Amino acid sequence: MKKLKWGVLSTANIGVAKVVPAMQRSAYCEIVALAGRNLDHARNWTGRLGIRKAYGSYAELLEDEEIDAVYNPLPNHLHVPWTLKALEAKKHVLCEKPLALNANEAASLIAASAKHERLVLEAFMVRNHPQWLRTRELIRSGVLGRVQAVQGVFAYCNTDPQNIRNKPDIGGGGLMDIGCYCVMASRYVFAAEPCRVVALIDRDPDMGIDRLTSGLLDYGSGRQASFICGTQTSFSQGFRVFGDQGGIQLVQPFKSLPEETLSLIYHQGENKQTEEIVSPCNQYTLQGDMASRVFSREIEPEFSLQDAILNMRVIDALRQSAETGRWVQLAEGC
Ligand SMILES: NC(=O)c1ccc[n+]([C@@H]2O[C@H](COP(=O)([O-])OP(=O)(O)OC[C@H]3O[C@@H](n4cnc5c(N)ncnc54)[C@H](OP(=O)(O)O)[C@@H]3O)[C@@H](O)[C@H]2O)c1
Repeated sequence: MKKLKWGVLSTANIGVAKVVPAMQRSAYCEIVALAGRNLDHARNWTGRLGIRKAYGSYAELLEDEEIDAVYNPLPNHLHVPWTLKALEAKKHVLCEKPLALNANEAASLIAASAKHERLVLEAFMVRNHPQWLRTRELIRSGVLGRVQAVQGVFAYCNTDPQNIRNKPDIGGGGLMDIGCYCVMASRYVFAAEPCRVVALIDRDPDMGIDRLTSGLLDYGSGRQASFICGTQTSFSQGFRVFGDQGGIQLVQPFKSLPEETLSLIYHQGENKQTEEIVSPCNQYTLQGDMASRVFSREIEPEFSLQDAILNMRVIDALRQSAETGRWVQLAEGC
């Protein structure tokens, strides 16, 4: 397959520090341009990253006919507006998580994607990591028995009022930034949607963002997911799967360095515990491979736009529950 030609919207930290260098290592991606609101700043980064073209506005980059696909790591409130513009310019889009500010906004992408015959993928890079593929393989093989519960944790400490995560009006807050991974991971493990959810949120009194959220997702038939996400908490991450015959523990389920060897602890019953080693890999390179191949129609997307809308729907319901202090029903079944 020929390398797909990519443009990058902004000099966002996640792009220039992690995703762009990782995609440059992909056999399927060529990063040909990067745009920033400030041309000098964009040029500084294209120089450092060895990218051929710099643009001083996102709109100019979208006019570039050489570009097939766009990576959108803008702040959350700009995900849908610039993804829509990219679709109109006939570009496929790999958009950072969470795809939108809410499920309705995410759903507005469906018609545009169909009309312009271009695809949108939400950049949950972890779904490309072999540790998650192995987790799913173990669950599907039946060795854990009936999977009853999952538990996720993702937390860090960031009190900088200038950081996009601490601005509620542009889609900040812990649930949007990292709680979305825990929601997505529970849906991934159960391969189902929760039928009702409840949440408790503690907000920062000055910045107004949710800084600590605990969520409980009822998947029906005795299946439960719980998670904690915090943005003024010491760094922590973990994910556990509990079955009636065994369990899995992912020590670094979300954030991992490409050179790190990860372990997946898998146990059956009380005594038999196996530590499986997962070889180092760059989950952002794997994500770039997958996105280029999907956009080139070489493979079908495993997680469609509809999946991203469903994830946002659960996040919306968790927020609604925290406001009302009640369970929010999403479907029949519990
Ligand atoms: N998948 C992952 O591992 C991962 C990790 C971190 C973050 N993310 C996601 O990536 C996105 C960006 O996160 P980040 O931490 O990289 O953000 P960031 O460093 O603050 O970058 C955001 C960029 O957006 C541009 N921008 C345009 N309008 C803006 C506005 N009104 N306010 C602030 N910036 C504006 C700026 O670039 P220019 O000035 O160059 O135009 C800015 O550098 C978020 O959606 C986040 O959830 C994903």
